[in-house]
Parts: sequence; C-alpha cells; structure tokens
Amino acid sequence: MKQEPAESALVKTNQTGSSESSPFSKGAEDVNFGSLPIRFALFTPPSCFNMPCMASILEVRDLRVTYRSRGGPAFRALDGVSFSLESGEVLGVLGESGSGKSTLATSLLGLFCANALTVSGTVLFEGQDLLQAKPGELQKIRGNRISLIFQEPSVALHPTMRAGRQIRHVLAAHGTKGRRGFDQRTREVLEQLFFAEEAERIRRSHPHQLSGGQRQRVLIAQAIACGPSVIIADEPTASLDPTTQMEILGVFRALRKSLSLTMMFITHNPALLAGFADRILVLYAGRVIELGPAQGVLASPKHPYTRSLFQSIPPLASAPRQAGKKKLPAISGDSFSSSVPREGCPFEPRCPERMDICKSREPGLVNLSETHTVSCFRYEGQ
Ligand SMILES: Nc1ncnc2c1ncn2[C@@H]1O[C@H](COP(=O)(O)OP(=O)(O)OP(=O)(O)O)[C@@H](O)[C@H]1O
Ligand code: SF4
Ligand SMILES: [Mg+2]
Repeated sequence: MKQEPAESALVKTNQTGSSESSPFSKGAEDVNFGSLPIRFALFTPPSCFNMPCMASILEVRDLRVTYRSRGGPAFRALDGVSFSLESGEVLGVLGESGSGKSTLATSLLGLFCANALTVSGTVLFEGQDLLQAKPGELQKIRGNRISLIFQEPSVALHPTMRAGRQIRHVLAAHGTKGRRGFDQRTREVLEQLFFAEEAERIRRSHPHQLSGGQRQRVLIAQAIACGPSVIIADEPTASLDPTTQMEILGVFRALRKSLSLTMMFITHNPALLAGFADRILVLYAGRVIELGPAQGVLASPKHPYTRSLFQSIPPLASAPRQAGKKKLPAISGDSFSSSVPREGCPFEPRCPERMDICKSREPGLVNLSETHTVSCFRYEGQ
C-alpha cells in the first residue's frame, strides 16, 4: 500500500494579508504575487509572537561583519544586526540581493569566509555565545542543534556522493554509530520527505539524478537528521518553479508542526512568508530596517524600502489587458552603493520619502508598538 510522507508534499498552504498599502491587502481573494499565484486568506498562523510564555532560543546582538575588499574600503556586510528568535517561531528574513541575508545565516553558526576582516557582536544560543565558542563546541552545535540549509542545493550537495551517504555523514559527525543505526535513521528521515517507495531510490541517487525539488528535500532531510531545535533555511525555494516552491513550503510547515522547530526562513519573496512566518525582519545594506509581526508588516509595511519592495512585485492577478499597460514601480539605484561607508540613512539615495536630515544622520530604531520597530526618521516623535 502506498504510504504517504508526513503531510509534506501534500500540504496546501494558507496565505495571509490585509490592508491598503501592500499587495497583500486583498484579504481572502486569489492574488497572483510575483511569479507565485497564491491564495491570501485572512488566516493567522499559529503565532508565537505575542505569547508571553515564549523564550528566546537565539539572541543576536549588534552583529557586525566586514569583508576585506581589494583596493577599496572594507565592505560592511552586516552592520549592527540585533534580533531574537523565539522558541517555536518562524522568523522570515526579507531583503534584496546583497543585503546580507546569507552572511547573517552563516554568521549565526560562526562560518566566516577567510576574508572576513572583522566580526563583532554576540550570538547567544541557549545562553552560549557562539561567536566566542571553540571550534569543537561549534562543531557539536552545527547540524545537530542548529542546522543550516544552504542557498543552492546543487552546490550544497556533494556531486559524487549518493544522497543517503550525505545524510549519513551528518549522522556520523554527531554520534550515530553502526551501519544499522545509519541506515535506519537515513530511511526514517527520507521517508519524512518522500513517499516510501521513492525514498529508497532517492537514497541511492546522486544529486544529478534528482530534480531541483528532490535535491532540496534531501538537503532538508540532512538538516533534520540529528533532530535540531533550530533550522536556518537560506532561500530554500529560490531555484524552484512556483509549484515546487509551494510544495517545499508545505514541507517546512509540516516539519515545523511535527518536530516543533524554530526557523529562520530567508527569502527575497515576501509572498512566501504570508501565512507561514510569525515575524518578519527586513534587512537593507546589512541593517535591520523593519521588524514586526508578519501580518502587520505584510499588510501595512512602514519603512519606505519595505513599501517600495512590495510595490515593485508584479501583480499578475490584474486582468491580462491591463497588465501590459501598467508600469511597475521600481526602486531606483542599487543597494551596493548603500553599503559603502557614508553619512546618513543607507536608503537615502533611493528613498522616495527622503528629507534633509536623512542625508546627514542615520536613523535609529523607532518602536511603533511593542512588537513593531522601524528605522526611519519619518516615525521619530510619533
Ligand atoms: N567573502 C566575501 N567577500 C567580500 N564580500 C562578500 C563576501 N561574501 C559576501 N560579500 C558581500 O556581502 C554582501 C552581502 O552578501 P550576502 O551573500 O550575505 O547577500 P544576500 O542577501 O544573501 O544576497 P543574495 O540574495 O544574492 O543571496 C554582498 O554585497 C556580497 O557581495
Ligand atoms: S530615514 Fe529618510 S531616507 Fe531613510 S528611509 Fe526614512 S525617510 Fe527614507
Ligand atoms: Mg544569499
């Protein structure tokens, strides 16, 4: 009899959003968002955000990473990033290419490129500062307590190694012993991600024999093999077609529920976070520029960059006749120039709402509510 994998591929996702200032404002209508047709229901995910019992599992304070660059000033990839990850929540991290998302993901596990010039701040995981941890201590945490799913599955998987063996490597690094133990756990995790009949074939396959979605599932299997409490997924759906994106998102939802995972889900596509993330953190030029409950940020983004980002995504739902006529707003300039040391707000050169003060001073974080902060002079004194 055909055995079904745990909810995973079969899960159809609910999406969320409302209000006037964003493409997420259409309530329960069907909306096409970017390349992804999505149903936005007025559905609140099982949010941990406002639950008083929540405790931080990971706390990042003033994280700064600069890279040595040839002939120019050191490049600030992360510039004073602070946030916490609450136990059981999904934190969505949004930002355009180059905003520092991957640097943030790898920094949390103390993985730095050789040309990382300075690293400072704290990354507290269950009370231990991972930036101060010895290599042996970090090794026990990586893949075991905190797993990172790298951005590109075709690069993250070893091309000459069968999928099953790649999962076994993670198990071996964290204490699983004996061939029987390896085989049993490898089968278990693959069967959480694939139908039982398919799982055996996948286990014996090399990455080039798998589709993009299957490779992504193998990476997820690797990530959950040792039963971590935190998963950091760096754009896990970026290279997939819209249908497979939704399937993989369904896998994450199901795993979150069945394994009580805490997740940091990195993407440049806000639509993927609707109905899935509890909170959203928006990165711009290595800085946190907005952080708040997912529903609030998606429905009513406050920072001019977040607003511009949402507005620049094509509303495919519009009637085909109108679609060709309406010019899509774009954010002028690029984020690279904003990471070069300069005075003022990093978004100032591109900001449609800039004021005189924005050129000379950098805005701090303003609390709009207990749960929503934004870095913009527009909200100071409100
Ligand atoms: N090893 C490195 N040396 C120099 N600069 C780097 C290095 N790694 C990243 N950067 C720079 O740091 C900035 C942030 O890079 P990062 O990969 O974190 O961005 P990202 O938000 O993940 O982008 P994407 O969405 O394209 O994956 C980029 O401008 C990038 O060029
Ligand atoms: S501080 Fe000024 S330049 Fe920066 S986002 Fe706000 S209005 Fe725009
Ligand atoms: Mg990246």
